Amino acid sequence: MNDLFSPFTIKGLDLKNRIVMPPMCQYSVDKKDGVATEWHYMHYVSRAIGGTGLVIVEMTDVEPDGRISDFDLGLWSDDQIPALKRIVDACHSYGAKVGIQIAHAGRKAEDAEVPVAPSAIAFDEKSKQPRALTTEEVKGQVEKFRAAVARAVQAGFDTIELHGAHGYLIHQFHSPLTNKRDDEYGKDLTLFGRQVIQAAKAEMPEDMPLLMRISAIEYVEGGYGIQESIAFAKEYQDAGVDVFHISAGGEGPIAAWGRPGTHAAYQVPLAKQIKESLDIPVIAVGRLDDPILANAVIGNEEADLVAVGRGMLRNPYWALETASKLKKETQIPRQYTTGF
Ligand SMILES: Cc1cc2nc3c(=O)[nH]c(=O)nc-3n(C[C@H](O)[C@H](O)[C@H](O)COP(=O)(O)O)c2cc1C
Repeated sequence: MNDLFSPFTIKGLDLKNRIVMPPMCQYSVDKKDGVATEWHYMHYVSRAIGGTGLVIVEMTDVEPDGRISDFDLGLWSDDQIPALKRIVDACHSYGAKVGIQIAHAGRKAEDAEVPVAPSAIAFDEKSKQPRALTTEEVKGQVEKFRAAVARAVQAGFDTIELHGAHGYLIHQFHSPLTNKRDDEYGKDLTLFGRQVIQAAKAEMPEDMPLLMRISAIEYVEGGYGIQESIAFAKEYQDAGVDVFHISAGGEGPIAAWGRPGTHAAYQVPLAKQIKESLDIPVIAVGRLDDPILANAVIGNEEADLVAVGRGMLRNPYWALETASKLKKETQIPRQYTTGF
């Protein structure tokens, strides 16, 4: 039986354990230039020292106006590669593998003068009114994703995660609520996502797995549910996704009935359903910071990997401390052995 500290291999990616740091925006770029700073270095390398198997760098955007804020990371320029490479190299030296989440915020780009989106539909009445991308511009966005992925590969990342969740651009294309286009990208709601996947794969080494984060259910009135997301995830799997990272929501104002209780492990049933329906590895995330619970999700085969977000913001050594609590073997940095 596997547990949190069993190794995991997919294609050429070998993880020493099943613990993932999920992408978490730090809004900590200094000069609006999208370049990672000393904060990012300390933040990610601490979690590598802390025993995390896979560190996924926060939402990193394919163009300046594709960012939630001007203080987010970007990979639209070669100038952004070296600072990321320094983080990757340091994480590697402490035994972690490193991924990066490549994204475009679409209509949720708060600092863009006029955000772009599949259709000119604002997120809510307080949000900026986006404009619809032309068909040519949509094709251009695919190429921006391609270029950002190529730069991530150059920076030495071990895997790439496409952000297809939380109401950002890829999600906006596959959701019928936000995509009302009448061109090919509206007639076929997953076309944009599939083209981005194919472009990413073309830039990645053959043995590098592609991760994709999706919202398995939407929380808005008339939003899609798990059956619809299983169907579109199947199309993304066929296009080349190797692992799904299962989240939920983010596409618009939450419906009157609210969101499902954000209790411990609230998204695990969604991860399990996608895993079983598509026979594909999944990362579960969402209030999984209790070590016994996280371990049970792996032991019960509900997910292949467990991501701990806020738990790792509180404690960069979450993985080491969890090994100690569960009495599992893990490599503790020599300097810290007395602490354990
Ligand atoms: C500060 C912060 C920033 C986040 N930024 C991102 C992000 O860049 N991309 C993403 O997909 N999710 C993001 N999330 C969501 C987390 O990856 C994770 O799914 C969520 O926090 C639930 O997991 P948790 O209960 O373990 O924190 C963010 C969450 C937090 C708390």
